[in-house]
Amino acid sequence: MTRFRPGDEVYGDVCDMDGAFAEYVCVPDRQMEHKPTNLTFEQAAAVPMAGCTALLGLREVGRVTAGQQVLINGASGGVGTFAVQIAKAFGAKVTAVCSTRNIELVRSLGADRVLDYTREDFARDGQRYDMVFDLVANRSLADLRRALTPSGVVVLSGGGVSRNGRPHVTGPMGLTIKAQVASRFVRHRLVTLSGMSPTAELLADLRELIESGQVLPAIDRTFPLAQVPEAIRYLEVEHARAKVVITV
Ligand SMILES: NC(=O)c1ccc[n+]([C@@H]2O[C@H](COP(=O)([O-])OP(=O)(O)OC[C@H]3O[C@@H](n4cnc5c(N)ncnc54)[C@H](OP(=O)(O)O)[C@@H]3O)[C@@H](O)[C@H]2O)c1
Repeated sequence: MTRFRPGDEVYGDVCDMDGAFAEYVCVPDRQMEHKPTNLTFEQAAAVPMAGCTALLGLREVGRVTAGQQVLINGASGGVGTFAVQIAKAFGAKVTAVCSTRNIELVRSLGADRVLDYTREDFARDGQRYDMVFDLVANRSLADLRRALTPSGVVVLSGGGVSRNGRPHVTGPMGLTIKAQVASRFVRHRLVTLSGMSPTAELLADLRELIESGQVLPAIDRTFPLAQVPEAIRYLEVEHARAKVVITV
């Protein structure tokens, strides 16, 4: 039994297979939903993994509510560009952190305040946030806690880069362990998002946000299926912004 019929336009994720680049895939229907009607297939392909990570982090883990101060570190990336828009849709006051070249992009997504990480340090400017959504994971836990209100929460996604721009030696696991150990001793909540898979429920909620015009995927470039290696190189070497999409 499935909720879908032949010819339905769907979007979803193939994370059970660690991702795929293909014209045809076989996917469990718990990871699929009807595609937002106002998106092309290319736009819709940019949504599931990054959009669900952003929604889960802000709503389920961060429990963001209207009027709260939210900081998004890594706001110009795949997850961050969704997180800025979703946090705004929830009524939060959003401070977005990115590099100089992405300030306008992030502002256009609705951020109330944009900090350029090459010039400003969110952990040392005296501002306090109810939630820090850290998608870069290049700061110490002490730095992150300094940016929090007394009841604030840090939500970490991924293991990212160290402050010198190199990948963490221990990857996401190191930060996860550090956060788990630290959370036993401090009053702040530190939560890592790991092993997240898009679900039909999250995809349906995202569809509502998209169809109501509150969220739109930000796409840097598209590449045809035959150019997947170039697309990966662009993503990893040329420091892409937002999402890169493969077209079929
Ligand atoms: N994308 C997904 O679907 C997904 C899903 C689950 C988990 N994750 C994890 O979540 C994390 C973020 O993923 P993503 O896809 O959003 O990454 P991404 O697209 O590569 O974005 C990286 C972000 O980090 C910023 N950044 C890079 N170097 C920095 C530095 N030295 N200091 C401060 N900021 C820096 C970038 O800003 P500039 O570009 O402006 O420099 C950009 O905003 C990753 O660890 C990833 O593994 C991603």
